[in-house]
Amino acid sequence: MTVASVMKPFRVLSDAPRSPLVAASMLGADFSRLGEEANDVMQAGCNLLHLDVMDGHFVPNLTMGPDLVAGLRRSCPDVCLDTHLMVQYPEGLIEPFVQAGSDHLTIHVEAEHPQGDPRVTADLIRQAGATAGLAINPGTPIDAILPYASDFELLLVMSVQPGFAGQSFRSEVLTKTEALSLAVPNGVRIQMDGGVAPVNADACRAAGCDVLVAASAIFRADDRRAAVESIRGPVAEPES
Ligand code: DX5
Ligand code: ZN
Repeated sequence: MTVASVMKPFRVLSDAPRSPLVAASMLGADFSRLGEEANDVMQAGCNLLHLDVMDGHFVPNLTMGPDLVAGLRRSCPDVCLDTHLMVQYPEGLIEPFVQAGSDHLTIHVEAEHPQGDPRVTADLIRQAGATAGLAINPGTPIDAILPYASDFELLLVMSVQPGFAGQSFRSEVLTKTEALSLAVPNGVRIQMDGGVAPVNADACRAAGCDVLVAASAIFRADDRRAAVESIRGPVAEPES
């Protein structure tokens, strides 16, 4: 897949055949050369850029704001910017991030939502012009996300406790992922995020994930292209 073929977020998330997509988490990049790093991982074969936004409350870390997203948008005009909001109150951040260039926003089921309903936040995301995802932490039971399985374009299963790159993959989330992939309607992407690497990517894909996020395994690889290809695994042939 070329960079030009990932221009539209809806196309990225709904493209057929549903080959696995690889998202580079910019948390692993050299922040003194962000634009250069973003273009490098896209040239290495990534399909989208994953931007980890942390508020210091929902998670004990502070990372990226809308200005940084706007800068990345200028560096990569045609790339899908997948923005992962690890924030307690996502509602007020939707408009600033979409205005800055985010194509897709993922919110957490554990965060605060208007009327206590993440579907209300999803509607606000779509009204702002982006697609919506719902994330679940490793310790949260699957029942928390199942009622919303058909209300989001993407479901994100966290395979580390969110907050930092470079943590070890928690393989116990694979059972939850398998159950989720059987429950979601066709067309809903399932994303895995945290400690994803060539050594566990097969298991993630076998459990039903078709969007794999990685920071350390891509940015720290000696051969980024080989790392991306290994995480993606076999690509489905188009049906004739
Ligand atoms: C963790 C973030 C992840 C993280 C992944 O809170 O949501 O996207 O950057 O980093 P690695 O791949 O190094 O675990
Ligand atoms: Zn993330």
